[in-house]
Amino acid sequence: MSKSYQIAVIGGDGTGPEVAREGVKVLEAAAAKFGFTLNFEDYDFGGERYLRTGEVLPDSASEEMRKHDAIFLGAIGHPDVKPGILEKGILLRLRFELDQYINLRPVKLFPGVECPLKDKGPEHIDYVVVRENTGDLYTGTGGFTLKGTPNEVAIQSSVYNRFQVDRCLKFAFEYTRKRNKKNTLALCGKTNVLTYVYDLWERAFHEMGEKDYADIRRDYYHVDATCMWMVKNPEWFDVIVTGNMFGDIITDLGAITQGGMGIAAGGNINPEGVSMFEPIGGSAPKYTGKNVINPLAAICAGAMMLEQLGEEAAAKAIEATVMDVTANKLKSLAAGKMGYTTTEVGDLVASAL
Ligand code: IPM
Ligand code: MN
Repeated sequence: MSKSYQIAVIGGDGTGPEVAREGVKVLEAAAAKFGFTLNFEDYDFGGERYLRTGEVLPDSASEEMRKHDAIFLGAIGHPDVKPGILEKGILLRLRFELDQYINLRPVKLFPGVECPLKDKGPEHIDYVVVRENTGDLYTGTGGFTLKGTPNEVAIQSSVYNRFQVDRCLKFAFEYTRKRNKKNTLALCGKTNVLTYVYDLWERAFHEMGEKDYADIRRDYYHVDATCMWMVKNPEWFDVIVTGNMFGDIITDLGAITQGGMGIAAGGNINPEGVSMFEPIGGSAPKYTGKNVINPLAAICAGAMMLEQLGEEAAAKAIEATVMDVTANKLKSLAAGKMGYTTTEVGDLVASAL
């Protein structure tokens, strides 16, 4: 009997629904070709719904999401809603409530894609960032005292416990082993200043590596140096593991080195639960409804989703097809400059599959 998967689709805001639609188109083509079924169910979470109803996310949302095998997300962020409300109330809330403790972000330069780094090509840029996705400055630990006075104090703490660090490291070591490329895992931290949090990370990293992953080489870089090497010598990297805040920052840098937000995809993964896959580019409000935004990031997010679901052959086929499209068809990855519309790019990938 062929396998069947229940997928929740959150198109979200701005160009989110447009790119999600192309992602779904390609996923359907892959399902037909590789002999499995995807049942998509749409959810209207996002800025429009919030402005209409005053509710950011229904309390039942996580329960509802848990009934699915995976979540496919377009983008969250609306120009008429104050920054932070939707991001925290939808994206971060789902990540936390579904305990998607890994944010997996491949940095891979596809053939034919213009790279802002001098003399670097696809053979130099192919690594993966494992960003811890539940702790750090994102826990909301902190607050104000004397708010609004000249003596106002604001505190926001980086918070990690050993359990969070260990489960993230275990995922990263296993992922590095399975990837089997350079068999090198680099910890990105700041042990020279953040002498509590990254001390914990560093001890846990070496303890686990020594005990269970003798086959995996361990490197360590401070986060500032990581940024430098991601530009100067990206070919050094295989898998990078880091905390939530550094992971957020370095993956935007990584994304721009792989051709920008039109191509960068990520997965919010709970290896024991429901995971959520998204293009990491945001809702690009100014391009909404124009059919010019690049859907390849969403399409690549779809491929990551299939890999997580265990449909690895289909995932690989989508990636290979996207590579063919970047190498031989698109003039640029930038919105409006692709030489094709959003829907045409989706058609190109779906029909080539
Ligand atoms: C990302 C985004 C989010 C984050 C924002 C929108 C809350 O920047 O997915 O990288 O900081 O994690
Ligand atoms: Mn980010």
